[in-house]
Amino acid sequence: MFSAECAQCHGRTARGMASFPTLRNISAPMLAEKLTKYRAGEAIGPNSMLMFPVAENLTDEEIELLTTYIADTFN
Ligand code: HEC
Repeated sequence: MFSAECAQCHGRTARGMASFPTLRNISAPMLAEKLTKYRAGEAIGPNSMLMFPVAENLTDEEIELLTTYIADTFN
């Protein structure tokens, strides 16, 4: 799921690029908190608009699985 839905912006190794932030060195709970905010339509940074449609369709379970995967794999 990370490869299909996140890597095109955040990079295959979650390092980020240009205005796409790195997802490295962020704990799973912090990643989940941010995704939950985006899902609720709450802005975090200046480009949150790009994350709204991505987060909109995530279930709680998907957020949990994804953020655990990202933190375990890239931190
Ligand atoms: C269309 C490009 C794009 C896609 C696809 C995308 N992101 Fe993002 N993401 C961004 C941008 C741009 C930001 C910075 C948004 C802001 O300014 O708040 C961001 C921010 C984030 C943040 C907050 C990072 C921080 O440092 O505050 C998290 C967590 C995140 N994305 C996770 C994901 C996950 C997980 C996926 C896949 C389900 C994903 N993103 C897919 C563009 C994208």
